[in-house]
Amino acid sequence: MSAAAPTAFEQRLAELGARVETEIDALLSPQLLPGELARPSRLLAAMRHAALGGGKRLRPFLAIATAEMLGVAVEQSLRPACAIELVHCYSLAHDDLPAMDNDDLRRGRPTVHKAFDDATAILAGDALLTLAFDVMADPATHRDSSIRADLALGLARASGHGGMAGGQMLDLDAERQAAPLPHDSIALLQSMKTGALLRFSVEAGAIVAGASADERSELIRFGAALGAAFQIADDILDAEGDVATLGKAAGKDAARNKATLVSALGLAGARKACDEYIARAVYALRDFGPRAGLLIDAAHFTARRDF
Ligand code: IPE
Ligand code: IPE
Ligand code: MG
Ligand code: MG
Ligand code: MG
Repeated sequence: MSAAAPTAFEQRLAELGARVETEIDALLSPQLLPGELARPSRLLAAMRHAALGGGKRLRPFLAIATAEMLGVAVEQSLRPACAIELVHCYSLAHDDLPAMDNDDLRRGRPTVHKAFDDATAILAGDALLTLAFDVMADPATHRDSSIRADLALGLARASGHGGMAGGQMLDLDAERQAAPLPHDSIALLQSMKTGALLRFSVEAGAIVAGASADERSELIRFGAALGAAFQIADDILDAEGDVATLGKAAGKDAARNKATLVSALGLAGARKACDEYIARAVYALRDFGPRAGLLIDAAHFTARRDF
């Protein structure tokens, strides 16, 4: 965070981040759940390395803040929010593998395959992904089974071949192309690999709150625009940021021939596109009035963050 006094938004992000940390810590305890046979210590340690002790926790923040805006207490949205973060942490563990982006540093620490080995990082990712759906399906997450099913379905659609995993495929395909990808193909790639899970984070808050169809679609529009801005900001940080602040390597996208809006539009063009998406995100919340203040702050943070 910045050296200046933390804003109200930054304080809330830190407070909710601490609650997410405690909840994930409990989910990744050695304690067996009914139906489990054993939790091998090396696998559990790798899962804990991937999921604990770092990260902005923006996805759970969005789920919790959205639910709270609609009148739902933090305790009611914490578990679904953590399930989304587990998927995110799995995606990072796999994204960093030598076969993908081949990164050594994540959240200021060695990546999972560096701290353990490639096979363990793959299994830790697999198990985090599976645990996310365990959490969504567990009656402890919500008393209403139709809400649990809605959460699990939405998470699957956001994470799978039509969402995050599909977007990661397009990202890797684009690296190997000689010709630069057209702008609309980059936008699709990004809305899948990053946007889908961020958009669903907001939607999950709406699902937990039993939001109306209108509210839900406005929130989905907000989440989609915020997700697009988020990846552009990530690409700008890769080009301009430094490893100490980011906690991960910078300058890797250009070196790996990644298709980004920085490569397509230049830094100034990418910054402008990011700001346009933020304006769109804020506009999508107009019907919520002052209640949407925290989500609007989250949108501005998304574009202006330095980590
Ligand atoms: C990084 O996500 C990977 C992308 C999807 C761009 P975050 O910037 O949210 O990473 P953490 O969770 O804060 O480490
Ligand atoms: C990662 O995008 C997106 C997912 C993990 C799904 P990046 O490859 O740009 O993320 P960083 O820069 O390594 O965090
Ligand atoms: Mg990547
Ligand atoms: Mg990467
Ligand atoms: Mg990146």
